[in-house]
Amino acid sequence: MKTPVYDALLALKEENSISFHFPGHKGHLAGVPWGELMPAIDTTETEGMDNLLEPKGIIKQSQKEAAKIFGAKETLYAVNGSTGSIYIAMAAFTKPGDRVIVQRNCHKSVYNAMVLNRLKPAYVYPRYNEDYDLLSGVSAEDVQYALDLYPEAKALILTYPNYYGVCCDLETIAHLVHEAGKILMVDEAHGAHFTFSDTLPPSALSCGADIVIQSTHKTLPSLTQTSMIHVGSNRIDLKKLRDRYQLYTTTSPSYLFTLSNEMAVKYMDEEGRKILKEQEVFIQEIIEQLDSIDRVSVFKGDPKDDTLFYKDPTKILMSMKGVMGTTLKRELWRRHNIRLEMADYYYALALTSVTTTKEELLALVDAIRDLAATLPFKELNIKSVEMPKPKVAMMPAEAYYGKKTLVSLDDALGTIAAAPIIPYPPGVPLVATGERVTEEVLDHLQFLRENGQTIVGLTGDEDNMVVVE
Ligand SMILES: Cc1ncc(COP(=O)(O)O)c(C=O)c1O
Repeated sequence: MKTPVYDALLALKEENSISFHFPGHKGHLAGVPWGELMPAIDTTETEGMDNLLEPKGIIKQSQKEAAKIFGAKETLYAVNGSTGSIYIAMAAFTKPGDRVIVQRNCHKSVYNAMVLNRLKPAYVYPRYNEDYDLLSGVSAEDVQYALDLYPEAKALILTYPNYYGVCCDLETIAHLVHEAGKILMVDEAHGAHFTFSDTLPPSALSCGADIVIQSTHKTLPSLTQTSMIHVGSNRIDLKKLRDRYQLYTTTSPSYLFTLSNEMAVKYMDEEGRKILKEQEVFIQEIIEQLDSIDRVSVFKGDPKDDTLFYKDPTKILMSMKGVMGTTLKRELWRRHNIRLEMADYYYALALTSVTTTKEELLALVDAIRDLAATLPFKELNIKSVEMPKPKVAMMPAEAYYGKKTLVSLDDALGTIAAAPIIPYPPGVPLVATGERVTEEVLDHLQFLRENGQTIVGLTGDEDNMVVVE
């Protein structure tokens, strides 16, 4: 058998590129001599090893330690990314048919969970910041409006921070949600590091969230797929949560992932705090240096926008005049062996973590300086990248499990999507299952495709979509 995956991974190792993308360990896993211990520690629920599905011993003890650090009532280590953790969490506080209020630019896992749990969505849209051409946060007013409009809703589900590091005024929103007697679930997949520095945005738990999901692997030095579920209040039924945990989790959870969750938290609580502090100062200097390069701007926040309450400074969001973000990302890799996490029309995003070194950050500045001096200027056709707002026509589960057919994009106007169309990253559906396809959606889709964005959900020659028959 040929081994294309092994070959590609060896080539990737050989390439030895600088990583400004996930996972947060960026090739420098802390605390465990993995090379020495593997594969001996890849074990199962044998004597003394406890069981992640029903922890009573070492895993229970470790999760308790983690909960103390995060300020949670309970912490559950998880092994299927935040995707799996979101399925578990949403099943824990809803039953089929319930209404939930969802931030419309949530990750696709929230949409999947609505299909799995047969939930009815009502959406709150993030605001669009026209001065900087990016999606900011949801406003407290829009949340209050939705809470008033849907008194039957069980919960509000928010993303905090978003991919770009934008954070809404979560404390105020938590207060409104609790006044209305609802549950606040926060997808903090990109913010597990907030707990470890008081100069970063406040963590979702400290703002009052009832249940919080984090991808340990995204911003902490931990293996891909590691995640945590934190419970912040008594509004979450722990028995139900443990039951749903078992529903969605493999009966052979990886001890490597469990260990990695534990060691990442330990590392952050010890060395990590100090490193993060020093790094924040250095990243500020790097941002100033990047910002001083001709044609280059780094987004640092916008005090005029009250939906953009905090900006996570560890996520460097840059743009270059006359160059698309996607081109910048590609050329950083091609010419400078630097890989970024993502790019869109305007921006390229470099993600740092505690394992990012000063040398790597300085290499980024040098590379950007070179590209700013050499990349040709191409007039960008100024375009708002605000999200279209298609109407919900059907419950996601109804559309997903109903009769479906394929239509070409040319004939899709007015149909109801039976599968989402998702630009990747950031993995937010442009049209979600059960929503009506509008002209605005089709225009935006064409714009994304013309600009080289990867789109998931189109079939055939990428010219067809799945719709309700
Ligand atoms: C906001 C958000 N939530 C959840 C997820 C899912 O996380 P995971 O990759 O850990 O399953 C992602 C993945 O990119 C994400 O961006």
